[in-house]
Amino acid sequence: MSEHSLAGRVALITGASRGLGKNIALALGGAGAELALVARDKEKLDETAAAVRAAGGTAEVFLADVSSEPQVLELERAVIARFGKVNILVNNAGINVRKPVVEFTLEEWRRVVDTNLTSVFLLCRSFVPHMKGYGYGRILNLTSMMSHVALPGRTAYAASKTGLLGFTRALALELAPDGITVVGISPGPYATEMNLPLIQNPEINQEFTSKLPVGRWGQVDEVGQLALYLCSEAAGFITGTDILMDGGWCAQ
Ligand SMILES: NC(=O)c1ccc[n+]([C@@H]2O[C@H](COP(=O)([O-])OP(=O)(O)OC[C@H]3O[C@@H](n4cnc5c(N)ncnc54)[C@H](OP(=O)(O)O)[C@@H]3O)[C@@H](O)[C@H]2O)c1
Repeated sequence: MSEHSLAGRVALITGASRGLGKNIALALGGAGAELALVARDKEKLDETAAAVRAAGGTAEVFLADVSSEPQVLELERAVIARFGKVNILVNNAGINVRKPVVEFTLEEWRRVVDTNLTSVFLLCRSFVPHMKGYGYGRILNLTSMMSHVALPGRTAYAASKTGLLGFTRALALELAPDGITVVGISPGPYATEMNLPLIQNPEINQEFTSKLPVGRWGQVDEVGQLALYLCSEAAGFITGTDILMDGGWCAQ
């Protein structure tokens, strides 16, 4: 058995229908974890599940808007009915709305904060009780380089991701006695659907690439391997912090 084997573990991954979440699902599923895949787009989620199964893994699809309290409560009921426990919770679902603060509607502000931050509270409140008692647990929160630095037009996103890093630290202290680690993964710019408006604009694309010391955008398959390591026994001493995967952006 590989040192990163997750055989016998159940992992719930939000935002698994595409992008970084899909890649994390493939990495954890490939290491033997049984997966509960969560998002709203059934067709895309089924594609992720099919890819996990094609690689020999186990995956079930659960549709939920993670910003909705009733839907997260129903998700808890359905996932526990199917798997009986959760050992790994990956809070990956997220959105961005980019515009000057004076142009934000309250609905847009709330949508970003509810999806990126309040959802993580709802999921942790529901699933932490099902994670205790195993002497092992992992909560991975997709924070961001925007938990550390900012750009214009990102007030809601930066506020939600900075808040998520604070949540990560505080929850790590609460759960350390239970053997459950809580860690942020902070990507820099990755070439996913979230960043299509930036990637497809040649000027902005070039501006971002020139600001990245490694000279390129991140590729989605670089994130799953970090998630896999953080879920391993070897990473049990890493908690209450985040790991930047930003091509050196924040080092400048
Ligand atoms: N890409 C980057 O450069 C970057 C950088 C820093 C941080 N991050 C963070 O990494 C995470 C993944 O980003 P990504 O680039 O992979 O984004 P993406 O390609 O846009 O995917 C976002 C995922 O979140 C799901 N989602 C969004 N709102 C949801 C909701 N209300 N309920 C349930 N699922 C929801 C989407 O699924 P459905 O639409 O099917 O529901 C989708 O699976 C996000 O938290 C993001 O903030 C990304």
